[in-house]
Amino acid sequence: MPGSCVIGLQWGDEAKGKLVDLLTEQHEVVVRYQGGANAGHTVVVGDEIYKLSLIPSGILRPGVKCVIAGGVVIHPATILEEIAMLRDRGVEVGENLLISDRAHVIFPWHTAEDRVLDESTADGENIGTTQRGIGPCYRDKVGRAHAVRLGDFYRDSLAGRIERIVAAKNESLAALRPGIEPLDAAAIAREYAEYAAELERHVVDTTSFLLDCVDRDRPVLFEGAQGSLLDVDHGTYPFVTSSNSSGIGVAAGAGVPPRFVQRAIGVIKAYSTRVGGGPFPTEQDNDIGRQLRDQGNEYGTVTRRPRRCGWFDAVATRYTARIGGIDEVAVMLLDVLSGLPELKICTAYEIDGRRVTDFPSHVDDLRRAVPVFETLESWDEDVSGARELSDLPPAACAYLDRLSELLERPVSFVSVGPERAQTIIANFPAAASLA
Ligand code: IMP
Repeated sequence: MPGSCVIGLQWGDEAKGKLVDLLTEQHEVVVRYQGGANAGHTVVVGDEIYKLSLIPSGILRPGVKCVIAGGVVIHPATILEEIAMLRDRGVEVGENLLISDRAHVIFPWHTAEDRVLDESTADGENIGTTQRGIGPCYRDKVGRAHAVRLGDFYRDSLAGRIERIVAAKNESLAALRPGIEPLDAAAIAREYAEYAAELERHVVDTTSFLLDCVDRDRPVLFEGAQGSLLDVDHGTYPFVTSSNSSGIGVAAGAGVPPRFVQRAIGVIKAYSTRVGGGPFPTEQDNDIGRQLRDQGNEYGTVTRRPRRCGWFDAVATRYTARIGGIDEVAVMLLDVLSGLPELKICTAYEIDGRRVTDFPSHVDDLRRAVPVFETLESWDEDVSGARELSDLPPAACAYLDRLSELLERPVSFVSVGPERAQTIIANFPAAASLA
């Protein structure tokens, strides 16, 4: 059974979009299965740069079916903007885009709640959400009373449902933020009726479509959004997103049996970044962090916030590779490390004088974790033209070798720049040498 998945092993922004784009060539179907427009995927094709939040980057390859499965939360205006942007640039969006009728819909009350709740965190650090209404929409999904799925758009009851929800939301928003402008149910119902009409041709039962792919052994690629350390159950809770962004989210979000996915590719940056609040043991709030941010252009695709930058954390990443059942690793942005005075990798944490290599389950322990670093030789050469491992300086090969050893998985892709061609297909070290 030929399902594959691409999973970010850090806090998101691992350049998964580029890898998905490359792997799409070998697949007939590409599936987004969790998250929403909090994600930002950048794909560079020649001189063209495409930034997508909801539509899988597979849309750029003719003949590939793109599925937005039921585990995703949909912001209709964003998806329609993406469709319009793609069509303007000559990309076909028609029968090749399927959106699940089970997917939950983001409404203006969700974005309002996201803003009010994140700003009013009293006990210290805010989560620093993307304010796209993701958490509140997932909360309503679980709560059920105030949820709307895309399939509900095509039932007569939608306007009445919106009216009832808006009445309740206006009360709760006013309690949280006295004086807040009330939402207008009729205007929202009109706006969303237009979205419903525009999206209708794409809305189907994607679970049934994907189960047919499973039965017929079709090559399907599952594209994770965010990174595993932001997983609501297994990440750095509560500084996480609201979905299962680690490998375990595929089956639940897409509605396919877990064993359909036979190849799990973990994506890492050659260093670490995080955007928003929460502990980040290897953070370099200093010249090194600034150099990484400048060289890696580390600013959020969605919010443009500067990303926090630091050294590679093998404790955190080995943990997420294990959760995701990761078979092989893609190392992205290796070119960003050129010219640093030295390189460090965190191989353990010291917590209250104890050395640990298991990732702590409680955020307080993670806050006290002092990274134990190993120093590696750096390189000055520009590696962005490398196309084979033998084009890389020995220090870069040694760095990749060490990552592979610490993660106990082979490195199968190395990215040295944003373009499709700036990729080394590797088997490094040979998988057999890890056995
Ligand atoms: P939310 O997903 O908007 O609720 O944000 C929760 C946390 O996840 C915040 O720290 C965000 O910065 C982070 N986050 C959400 N989506 C992404 C992403 O695609 N890349 C990196 N961080 C993200």
